[in-house]
Amino acid sequence: MKKLIAFNWKMNPASKKEAGDLLKIYLKTLTAKPYTLNAYFIVCPPFVYLSKIATSINRSRIKLGSQDIFWEESGAYTGEISPAMLKDLGVEYAIIGHSERRQYMGETDEMINKKIKAALLAGLKVILCVGETLLIRKKGKKEVENFIKKQLVSDLKDLKNASSFKLQASNLVVAYEPIWAIGTGVPCAPKDAQETIGFIKSFVASSLKLQDLIVLYGGSVNSQNVKSFVQLKGIDGALVGGASLKKEEVEKIINQLK
Ligand code: PGA
Repeated sequence: MKKLIAFNWKMNPASKKEAGDLLKIYLKTLTAKPYTLNAYFIVCPPFVYLSKIATSINRSRIKLGSQDIFWEESGAYTGEISPAMLKDLGVEYAIIGHSERRQYMGETDEMINKKIKAALLAGLKVILCVGETLLIRKKGKKEVENFIKKQLVSDLKDLKNASSFKLQASNLVVAYEPIWAIGTGVPCAPKDAQETIGFIKSFVASSLKLQDLIVLYGGSVNSQNVKSFVQLKGIDGALVGGASLKKEEVEKIINQLK
């Protein structure tokens, strides 16, 4: 199965000129590769660059994702962006529940659940982020699994029998992102990531009857370690943050996955 690599630019870069230059690196590296790449790629820039980027990419080579969405379709929600607006721009994926939003913007599992439902209803594919703190990881595997199970139960609540959309393995991706590994330069040990991802898959398979869920690893992934994750059975790809802003890193990551 092809690996999925999602690049999350977070709140970067600072200007549309830099965003355009960064995108060019992706396009150049991908164009130099044959269509038989063993991976597919998603770029998730800030909202303000989506429109421009949507018109510059060939979506059969690289897909477009947003870093968040709001759960209402339209209305008096100052500052928010609806799934329909994103869909209309050509956005295919929405990252939902990133730990930075949970931490800094006070996003709760209840809000995340509403966002997931709204995204699926609008026909967007969801990349749901889950992951534990260092304190929990230090307590051991069982604690990690219990924590993630709780997040999954709340975030994916009422999705199984929803009548307005059909939940399937093609429209839900989960990213296992231990909080302590994000932006720290200290990734999770690949074996531990594999084990937790195995847990996520079996939990979702039994609770939602969703087989073949795609699960990514995220947290300090770079060109040096990306292979050590994606080569492991069960790890279907990576969510890349900091490295997605660096020219050489982007080139090396894409080139390695050919
Ligand atoms: P990082 O971020 O690669 O900079 O650790 C990953 C993420 O937050 O998605």
